[in-house]
Amino acid sequence: MRGDKFAYVEGSALHAEILAALHDSCFDVSWSIQEFQDLLTSPGVFALIVQQGTSEPCGLVVFRAASDECEILTIGVLPGWRRHKIAASLLDRIIVQMRDIGVSRVFLEVAKDNEAALKLYQGQGFQEVGRRRKYYKMADGRIDALILAKTIF
Ligand SMILES: CC(C)(COP(=O)(O)OP(=O)(O)OC[C@H]1O[C@@H](n2cnc3c(N)ncnc32)[C@H](O)[C@@H]1OP(=O)(O)O)[C@@H](O)C(=O)NCCC(=O)NCCS
Repeated sequence: MRGDKFAYVEGSALHAEILAALHDSCFDVSWSIQEFQDLLTSPGVFALIVQQGTSEPCGLVVFRAASDECEILTIGVLPGWRRHKIAASLLDRIIVQMRDIGVSRVFLEVAKDNEAALKLYQGQGFQEVGRRRKYYKMADGRIDALILAKTIF
């Protein structure tokens, strides 16, 4: 499978500190350790942490399965590790894992101007199924959130 040179560790509430640090390095808006702890003790929430050999973690994804749907809650790769197909391999892995438990559709939300993420998702076959107008608050105003989905069965 794509990204096999990396290690993928299943995250739990015990990894909340690592996940919060990774998230903080990937996004402008941080999620606290407590938020990750709360998320990862909620039913149906999973996380994967990417490591390169014995080095520090370089990527994360947190996703939630409910009934036959999955929502990707956050996905990020440290700036120095981008364009190594880490995010693409995380999406591949989520899809395999979710298919195995009977999920048929994966959803996510992305800012309209997040070109890197949009290219990633389009390349993986996600399609726009909705839009939340002026959903994200940015330094220079508000921007729409696009809701994307991919059917995986
Ligand atoms: C979006 C993000 C997760 C992509 O991670 P990544 O590991 O670098 O992505 P990949 O290497 O798997 O990229 C796969 C494909 O996505 C597209 N892509 C990824 N980053 C891109 C960029 N900066 N510009 C254009 N296309 C890009 C390309 O098609 C790429 O394939 P290619 O390298 O063969 O051209 C990463 O840039 C990131 O963490 N951004 C900040 C957090 C964020 O915005 N998360 C998404 C929130 S919805």
